[in-house]
Amino acid sequence: MTSRAEVVVSGMRPTGRLHLGNYWGALKNWVDLQSRHRCYFFVADWHMLTTGYEDTSKLRDNTREMVLDWLAAGLEPDKCVIFRQSDVLEHAELALLLGMITSLGWLENNPTWKDQLEQLADRDVRTFGFLGYPILQTADVLLYRGTRVPVGQDQLPHLELSREIARRFNGIYGETFPEPQPILTATPKLPGVDGRKMSKSYGNTLEIYETQESLGSKIKNMYTDPKKLRKNTPGNPDPGPENPPGCVVYALHKLYTPEWEKIGDACRKGELGCMDDKRHLTQVLDKPFAEFRGARERYSAEDVENILSKGAEKAREVAAATMSDVRRAMRLR
Ligand code: TRP
Repeated sequence: MTSRAEVVVSGMRPTGRLHLGNYWGALKNWVDLQSRHRCYFFVADWHMLTTGYEDTSKLRDNTREMVLDWLAAGLEPDKCVIFRQSDVLEHAELALLLGMITSLGWLENNPTWKDQLEQLADRDVRTFGFLGYPILQTADVLLYRGTRVPVGQDQLPHLELSREIARRFNGIYGETFPEPQPILTATPKLPGVDGRKMSKSYGNTLEIYETQESLGSKIKNMYTDPKKLRKNTPGNPDPGPENPPGCVVYALHKLYTPEWEKIGDACRKGELGCMDDKRHLTQVLDKPFAEFRGARERYSAEDVENILSKGAEKAREVAAATMSDVRRAMRLR
C-alpha cells in the first residue's frame, strides 16, 4: 500500500490515560507504522486549547499519562519521532502563513466545526482558534511534508481541507507540499463494558493501564446477553434486534481469541455459561495487558520528558528546513 518514501504524521490531543478503544482505533496502527515508515507522532497540546483554554491545569499531567500509554502500547522512541506540538514553534508560524490563503468558507462549512459548536454549547467555543483548528492541523502535517495521516473517520473533512490548502499553496507559490492522504483503521467500533460505545465520558472503558484485579472485576461486570439467565440457556452473542449492543465479552474474543467462532457457537447452543466465558476472557487478556503494564512501567516521568525533548529536537530540524523553503517560496526571505 505505502512505500518507503511515505512520511506518516499524526497527533492526539492530551486527554490523559487512554483506553482500549484508543488502542484499536489509532494507537495500534501507529505502532504498526513505526517499523515501516518515517513517522512523526505528537501531542497536540495547542489543539487542546481550542476547546479547553479555560482550564489548563491538567495539560502537563495529561500529556505525560498519554505518552506513557503510547509507550505502553509499543511506540518506540528509536523508531519514530515522539514530541509535543508546542515545543516546535514552527507549527505556529506555518499555521499563521497557511491562514492567509484559507477561505473562511472552507472553515465555516467544516461539518466537524458545526457539530462541535452544537455539542459544546456549554462552553464559549466561538473563537478564532477553534474555527482555525484545521489550519493548525494542516500545518502539523505539511511541516514534515507528511504524505499519510492515520486518523479516524471523523477526521476526513479536516484532511480534505488540508489537501485543499496544500493545493492552493502549491498553486500560488510553487510546488512545495505533497497532498496528504488518510490511512483509515479498519477496526470495528469497540463497545465499552456496558455495551455502549467505549468512551471516557461514559465511564465504561478498559484502560490501557489496568491492573490485573481491576481488569478482572471489569470483565466480571461486562454486559452480555441479558436473556441468557443460565449456563444452559442458548444465548445470542451477536449484536442485532434481539440484543442490540451484542455481548461485550464476545466482541473482545473476536479481537483476541483465535477460536472465537467456537465460543459463539457454544454460547448459542447453550453449552457455555457467561461466568465461564468471562473467566476465559480474563485469561486471554492477561498477557496483552501484562505487556502494556510492563512497557509502561519501564518508563518514569523523567524518561517521558527526555523522550519529548529529544523528539522535539529531531522534529525541529525537519520543521526548520521546511520553513526555510516556505519562506523562500513566499519571497519572505
Ligand atoms: N484533530 C485530531 C484529533 O482530534 C488531532 C490532530 C491534531 C491531528 N493535529 C493532527 C491528527 C495532525 C492528525 C494529524 O484526533
